[in-house]
Amino acid sequence: MTGALKVVPNGSVGARIEGIDLRTAGEGEIAAVMQAWYRHDVLVFPGQQLSDDHLLAFSRRFGALDSPPNQGAGRKSPPGYPEVYVVSNVLDGSGEPIGALGDGEALWHTDMSYAALPPDASMLYALEIPSTGGDTCFASMKAALELVPAPLRERIATLDIKHDGTYDSGGYLRKGMAPSADPRSSTGTPHPIVIEHPVSGDRALYLGRRRNAYVMGLEPEESERLLEQLWRCVEASVYRHRWTPGDLVLWDNRTTMHRRDAFDPRSRRVMHRTQIKGTSPPRRARSGP
Ligand code: OGA
Ligand code: MN
Repeated sequence: MTGALKVVPNGSVGARIEGIDLRTAGEGEIAAVMQAWYRHDVLVFPGQQLSDDHLLAFSRRFGALDSPPNQGAGRKSPPGYPEVYVVSNVLDGSGEPIGALGDGEALWHTDMSYAALPPDASMLYALEIPSTGGDTCFASMKAALELVPAPLRERIATLDIKHDGTYDSGGYLRKGMAPSADPRSSTGTPHPIVIEHPVSGDRALYLGRRRNAYVMGLEPEESERLLEQLWRCVEASVYRHRWTPGDLVLWDNRTTMHRRDAFDPRSRRVMHRTQIKGTSPPRRARSGP
Protein backbone atom coordinates (compact mmCIF):
# COMPACT_ATOMS: atom_id res chain seq x y z
CA MET A 1 0.00 0.00 0.00
CA THR A 2 1.78 3.14 -1.16
CA GLY A 3 -1.08 5.54 -0.37
CA ALA A 4 -0.61 9.00 -1.83
CA LEU A 5 3.15 8.76 -2.36
CA LYS A 6 4.11 10.73 -5.46
CA VAL A 7 7.46 10.74 -7.29
CA VAL A 8 8.09 14.04 -9.09
CA PRO A 9 11.32 14.01 -11.18
CA ASN A 10 13.44 17.17 -10.83
CA GLY A 11 13.99 17.46 -14.57
CA SER A 12 17.74 16.85 -14.12
CA VAL A 13 19.04 14.34 -11.61
CA GLY A 14 16.83 13.39 -8.68
CA ALA A 15 13.17 13.43 -7.72
CA ARG A 16 10.96 14.91 -5.07
CA ILE A 17 8.89 12.49 -3.00
CA GLU A 18 5.58 13.87 -1.81
CA GLY A 19 2.90 12.41 0.42
CA ILE A 20 5.11 10.46 2.80
CA ASP A 21 5.85 10.91 6.51
CA LEU A 22 9.26 9.36 7.13
CA ARG A 23 8.42 8.78 10.82
CA THR A 24 5.64 6.34 10.01
CA ALA A 25 6.28 5.09 6.44
CA GLY A 26 5.12 1.50 5.87
CA GLU A 27 6.89 -1.34 4.06
CA GLY A 28 5.12 -0.63 0.77
CA GLU A 29 6.10 3.03 0.87
CA ILE A 30 9.73 2.18 1.62
CA ALA A 31 9.76 -0.29 -1.30
CA ALA A 32 8.46 2.50 -3.57
CA VAL A 33 11.13 4.88 -2.20
CA MET A 34 13.84 2.28 -2.98
CA GLN A 35 12.65 1.91 -6.56
CA ALA A 36 12.62 5.70 -7.01
CA TRP A 37 16.08 5.92 -5.47
CA TYR A 38 17.65 3.37 -7.85
CA ARG A 39 16.13 5.24 -10.75
CA HIS A 40 16.72 8.88 -9.71
CA ASP A 41 19.79 8.67 -7.38
CA VAL A 42 18.82 11.74 -5.32
CA LEU A 43 15.53 11.94 -3.42
CA VAL A 44 14.15 15.06 -1.74
CA PHE A 45 11.55 14.59 1.01
CA PRO A 46 10.13 18.02 1.89
CA GLY A 47 8.20 18.93 5.03
CA GLN A 48 9.50 16.27 7.44
CA GLN A 49 9.57 16.58 11.24
CA LEU A 50 12.37 14.32 12.38
CA SER A 51 14.08 13.89 15.72
CA ASP A 52 17.52 12.22 15.68
CA ASP A 53 15.77 8.97 16.66
CA HIS A 54 13.46 9.28 13.63
CA LEU A 55 16.41 10.09 11.38
CA LEU A 56 18.29 7.00 12.60
CA ALA A 57 15.23 4.75 12.30
CA PHE A 58 14.56 5.89 8.71
CA SER A 59 18.26 5.58 7.80
CA ARG A 60 18.39 2.00 9.11
CA ARG A 61 15.73 0.97 6.63
CA PHE A 62 18.45 1.35 3.97
CA GLY A 63 21.01 -0.80 5.76
CA ALA A 64 23.58 -0.68 8.55
CA LEU A 65 24.90 2.74 9.49
CA ASP A 66 28.47 3.88 8.97
CA SER A 67 30.45 5.92 11.49
CA PRO A 68 30.74 9.58 10.52
CA PRO A 69 33.84 10.77 8.69
CA ASN A 70 36.77 12.48 10.36
CA GLN A 71 36.78 16.01 8.95
CA GLY A 72 38.64 19.22 9.66
CA ALA A 73 36.50 19.77 12.73
CA GLY A 74 36.97 16.14 13.83
CA ARG A 75 33.95 13.90 14.41
CA LYS A 76 30.99 15.91 15.60
CA SER A 77 27.78 14.31 16.78
CA PRO A 78 24.88 15.38 18.99
CA PRO A 79 25.35 13.99 22.53
CA GLY A 80 24.20 10.36 22.65
CA TYR A 81 24.00 10.02 18.84
CA PRO A 82 27.42 8.89 17.57
CA GLU A 83 25.97 7.81 14.20
CA VAL A 84 24.56 11.26 13.50
CA TYR A 85 26.99 13.72 11.99
CA VAL A 86 26.50 17.46 12.39
CA VAL A 87 27.23 19.73 9.41
CA SER A 88 27.16 23.29 10.72
CA ASN A 89 28.94 26.64 10.98
CA VAL A 90 27.46 27.36 14.42
CA LEU A 91 29.93 27.81 17.30
CA ASP A 92 29.33 26.47 20.80
CA GLY A 93 29.90 28.41 24.04
CA SER A 94 33.66 27.91 23.86
CA GLY A 95 33.92 29.03 20.23
CA GLU A 96 34.28 25.48 18.85
CA PRO A 97 32.22 24.60 15.75
CA ILE A 98 29.38 22.21 16.61
CA GLY A 99 29.76 20.57 13.20
CA ALA A 100 31.81 20.20 10.03
CA LEU A 101 32.40 22.15 6.81
CA GLY A 102 32.16 25.72 8.16
CA ASP A 103 30.50 28.35 5.95
CA GLY A 104 32.69 28.12 2.83
CA GLU A 105 32.18 26.34 -0.43
CA ALA A 106 32.44 22.55 -0.35
CA LEU A 107 33.87 21.33 -3.65
CA TRP A 108 32.44 18.48 -5.74
CA HIS A 109 32.91 15.15 -3.99
CA THR A 110 31.32 11.92 -3.03
CA ASP A 111 31.37 10.96 0.64
CA MET A 112 34.28 8.99 2.10
CA SER A 113 35.49 7.46 -1.16
CA TYR A 114 39.01 7.43 0.34
CA ALA A 115 37.80 4.41 2.35
CA ALA A 116 38.02 0.82 1.09
CA LEU A 117 34.27 0.45 1.64
CA PRO A 118 32.64 3.87 1.11
CA PRO A 119 29.04 4.41 2.26
CA ASP A 120 26.37 3.50 -0.33
CA ALA A 121 24.28 6.50 0.66
CA SER A 122 24.17 9.61 2.80
CA MET A 123 21.25 11.69 3.93
CA LEU A 124 21.07 15.26 5.20
CA TYR A 125 18.22 16.66 7.24
CA ALA A 126 17.86 20.46 7.40
CA LEU A 127 17.21 21.98 10.83
CA GLU A 128 18.32 25.61 10.35
CA ILE A 129 18.96 27.24 6.98
CA PRO A 130 20.30 30.69 6.02
CA SER A 131 17.93 32.88 3.99
CA THR A 132 20.36 32.81 1.05
CA GLY A 133 23.38 30.71 0.09
CA GLY A 134 24.34 27.21 1.19
CA ASP A 135 22.54 25.47 -1.68
CA THR A 136 23.68 21.90 -2.31
CA CYS A 137 24.15 20.74 -5.91
CA PHE A 138 24.07 17.13 -7.08
CA ALA A 139 25.67 15.85 -10.29
CA SER A 140 24.64 12.62 -12.00
CA MET A 141 27.74 10.53 -12.57
CA LYS A 142 25.71 8.30 -14.91
CA ALA A 143 25.15 11.36 -17.12
CA ALA A 144 28.83 12.32 -16.69
CA LEU A 145 29.92 8.93 -18.02
CA GLU A 146 27.64 9.34 -21.04
CA LEU A 147 29.54 12.51 -21.89
CA VAL A 148 32.95 10.80 -21.92
CA PRO A 149 34.01 10.30 -25.57
CA ALA A 150 34.06 6.62 -26.60
CA PRO A 151 37.86 6.22 -27.03
CA LEU A 152 38.47 7.75 -23.61
CA ARG A 153 35.77 5.55 -22.11
CA GLU A 154 37.54 2.52 -23.50
CA ARG A 155 40.82 3.70 -22.03
CA ILE A 156 39.47 4.22 -18.50
CA ALA A 157 37.55 0.94 -18.40
CA THR A 158 40.46 -0.86 -16.75
CA LEU A 159 42.01 2.05 -14.81
CA ASP A 160 41.74 3.02 -11.13
CA ILE A 161 41.80 6.38 -9.36
CA LYS A 162 43.33 6.72 -5.94
CA HIS A 163 40.94 8.71 -3.72
CA ASP A 164 42.71 10.97 -1.24
CA GLY A 165 41.76 11.00 2.44
CA THR A 166 43.90 13.93 3.55
CA TYR A 167 41.50 16.85 3.03
CA ASP A 168 37.74 17.19 3.42
CA SER A 169 35.51 18.82 0.81
CA GLY A 170 35.73 22.16 2.62
CA GLY A 171 39.50 22.10 2.03
CA TYR A 172 40.27 21.38 5.69
CA LEU A 173 42.97 18.92 6.71
CA ARG A 174 41.22 15.98 8.37
CA LYS A 175 42.00 15.77 12.06
CA GLY A 176 45.27 13.94 12.78
CA MET A 177 46.30 13.69 9.09
CA ALA A 178 49.68 14.87 7.75
CA PRO A 179 49.41 17.53 5.02
CA SER A 180 50.26 16.09 1.61
CA ALA A 181 50.42 17.28 -1.97
CA ASP A 182 51.66 13.97 -3.35
CA PRO A 183 48.67 11.77 -4.17
CA ARG A 184 50.90 8.76 -4.78
CA SER A 185 52.02 8.61 -1.16
CA SER A 186 49.08 10.24 0.67
CA THR A 187 46.47 8.21 2.56
CA GLY A 188 43.71 6.89 0.31
CA THR A 189 42.27 3.98 -1.63
CA PRO A 190 42.22 3.14 -5.36
CA HIS A 191 38.84 2.39 -6.91
CA PRO A 192 37.79 1.65 -10.52
CA ILE A 193 37.08 4.80 -12.59
CA VAL A 194 33.98 3.31 -14.16
CA ILE A 195 31.75 1.45 -11.75
CA GLU A 196 28.39 -0.28 -11.92
CA HIS A 197 25.61 -0.08 -9.40
CA PRO A 198 25.20 -3.46 -7.67
CA VAL A 199 21.39 -3.34 -7.87
CA SER A 200 20.43 -1.39 -11.00
CA GLY A 201 23.55 -2.32 -13.00
CA ASP A 202 23.74 1.32 -14.16
CA ARG A 203 27.25 2.50 -14.98
CA ALA A 204 28.78 5.66 -13.54
CA LEU A 205 31.98 7.65 -13.53
CA TYR A 206 33.53 7.43 -10.05
CA LEU A 207 35.81 10.40 -9.43
CA GLY A 208 35.46 11.02 -5.68
CA ARG A 209 37.13 14.40 -5.42
CA ARG A 210 39.66 16.36 -7.44
CA ARG A 211 42.30 17.30 -4.88
CA ASN A 212 45.16 14.80 -4.69
CA ALA A 213 43.42 12.42 -7.07
CA TYR A 214 45.74 10.13 -9.00
CA VAL A 215 45.23 7.64 -11.82
CA MET A 216 47.14 4.58 -10.71
CA GLY A 217 50.16 3.61 -12.77
CA LEU A 218 50.42 6.84 -14.80
CA GLU A 219 53.07 9.52 -14.67
CA PRO A 220 51.69 12.39 -12.53
CA GLU A 221 51.43 14.78 -15.51
CA GLU A 222 49.58 12.16 -17.56
CA SER A 223 47.29 11.42 -14.62
CA GLU A 224 46.49 15.14 -14.30
CA ARG A 225 45.74 15.40 -18.01
CA LEU A 226 43.36 12.44 -17.91
CA LEU A 227 41.64 13.68 -14.75
CA GLU A 228 41.11 17.12 -16.32
CA GLN A 229 39.41 15.48 -19.31
CA LEU A 230 37.14 13.44 -17.06
CA TRP A 231 36.26 16.33 -14.74
CA ARG A 232 35.06 18.32 -17.78
CA CYS A 233 32.17 15.82 -17.98
CA VAL A 234 31.01 16.18 -14.36
CA GLU A 235 28.37 18.87 -14.77
CA ALA A 236 26.43 17.02 -17.49
CA SER A 237 23.31 16.88 -15.32
CA VAL A 238 23.07 18.90 -12.11
CA TYR A 239 20.26 19.50 -9.64
CA ARG A 240 20.50 22.51 -7.31
CA HIS A 241 18.72 22.09 -3.99
CA ARG A 242 17.60 25.25 -2.18
CA TRP A 243 16.96 24.09 1.36
CA THR A 244 13.94 24.62 3.55
CA PRO A 245 14.01 23.41 7.18
CA GLY A 246 12.34 20.00 7.28
CA ASP A 247 13.86 18.84 3.97
CA LEU A 248 15.55 15.47 4.01
CA VAL A 249 17.75 14.70 1.00
CA LEU A 250 19.04 11.18 0.38
CA TRP A 251 21.67 10.49 -2.26
CA ASP A 252 23.53 7.57 -3.75
CA ASN A 253 27.27 8.06 -3.26
CA ARG A 254 28.10 5.70 -6.14
CA THR A 255 26.13 7.44 -8.86
CA THR A 256 26.29 11.10 -7.79
CA MET A 257 28.66 13.75 -6.48
CA HIS A 258 27.65 16.85 -4.52
CA ARG A 259 28.98 20.31 -3.69
CA ARG A 260 27.79 23.18 -1.51
CA ASP A 261 27.75 26.95 -2.00
CA ALA A 262 29.26 29.23 0.61
CA PHE A 263 26.90 31.28 2.79
CA ASP A 264 26.97 34.31 5.08
CA PRO A 265 29.12 33.43 8.12
CA ARG A 266 26.78 35.47 10.32
CA SER A 267 23.85 33.20 9.52
CA ARG A 268 23.18 29.77 11.05
CA ARG A 269 23.06 26.52 9.10
CA VAL A 270 22.48 23.27 10.99
CA MET A 271 22.12 19.89 9.25
CA HIS A 272 22.13 16.37 10.68
CA ARG A 273 23.56 13.63 8.50
CA THR A 274 23.68 9.84 8.48
CA GLN A 275 25.55 7.55 6.16
CA ILE A 276 24.63 4.00 5.10
CA LYS A 277 27.45 1.48 5.20
CA GLY A 278 28.60 0.14 1.85
CA THR A 279 27.32 -3.31 0.92
CA SER A 280 30.25 -3.90 -1.46
CA PRO A 281 33.32 -1.93 -2.56
CA PRO A 282 32.85 0.13 -5.76
CA ARG A 283 32.59 -2.51 -8.50
CA ARG A 284 34.31 -2.16 -11.88
CA ALA A 285 31.75 -1.87 -14.68
CA ARG A 286 31.60 -4.69 -17.18
CA SER A 287 32.80 -3.34 -20.51
CA GLY A 288 30.76 -3.29 -23.70
CA PRO A 289 27.77 -1.23 -24.80
C1 OGA B 1 27.85 16.24 3.43
C2 OGA B 1 28.00 17.43 2.60
C3 OGA B 1 26.99 19.52 2.04
C4 OGA B 1 26.03 20.47 2.63
O1 OGA B 1 27.21 16.32 4.48
O2 OGA B 1 28.37 15.18 3.03
O3 OGA B 1 28.77 17.43 1.69
O4 OGA B 1 25.21 21.01 1.91
N1 OGA B 1 27.22 18.46 2.92
O5 OGA B 1 26.09 20.70 3.84
MN1 MN C 1 29.56 15.33 1.40
